[in-house]
Amino acid sequence: MAKILLIAGHPHPEQSLANATILEEIKKSDLDITIEDLAAKGWNFDIPAEQAAVKAADVLVFQFPFYWYSYPALLKKWVEEVLAHGFAYGSQGTALQGKDFIISFTAGAPFDTYKAGSTQNRPVAEYLYNFQQLAEFTGMKPHDPIVTYGCMYVPGVSTEEDKKRIISDCKKSAAKLLEELKKC
Ligand SMILES: Cc1cc2nc3c(=O)[nH]c(=O)nc-3n(C[C@H](O)[C@H](O)[C@H](O)COP(=O)(O)O)c2cc1C
Repeated sequence: MAKILLIAGHPHPEQSLANATILEEIKKSDLDITIEDLAAKGWNFDIPAEQAAVKAADVLVFQFPFYWYSYPALLKKWVEEVLAHGFAYGSQGTALQGKDFIISFTAGAPFDTYKAGSTQNRPVAEYLYNFQQLAEFTGMKPHDPIVTYGCMYVPGVSTEEDKKRIISDCKKSAAKLLEELKKC
């Protein structure tokens, strides 16, 4: 069974609805998944320990809320520090080669706004080339991203209907992610 390392990059998991729902579903799976909650580490990473966890995994998953058309600073910091030269890239940096790589993220904006002429202006895929290149540069096999749209939930402003829809959509995305992981 493939060994899966899921890096959960939400900086405020206690305020999360969407990512928290996906993670709860993932935790119910009997696949070999280790979930690392970066926020619980308080922005300070034990880099050799993180690199050992990455090295031991066959599959690397990033789960995060979409922030400014990319990943949150917390996850970016982890990437910068852990996927370092000599480990992830460079002549000696071969640790990621051959691993599967999947990103799964929640976006606040609805699907139909991610197109030319609407508020988000471009299809979401156009914002994701950096992930594709991160995978290719480090020798990982990128999978199609798993995107859950319309996840903006504001307590006191959003309705119960909104909340139910977000939870339902996130459960579907978690199921999709688990299906993808079973192929690895
Ligand atoms: C700093 C910040 C930046 C955000 N940027 C985007 C964005 O670029 N596109 C988008 O669709 N939603 C954006 N959002 C909305 C979040 O993606 C959304 O609230 C989140 O996915 C909900 O997940 P959660 O319930 O786990 O927090 C942003 C939210 C914050 C706080």
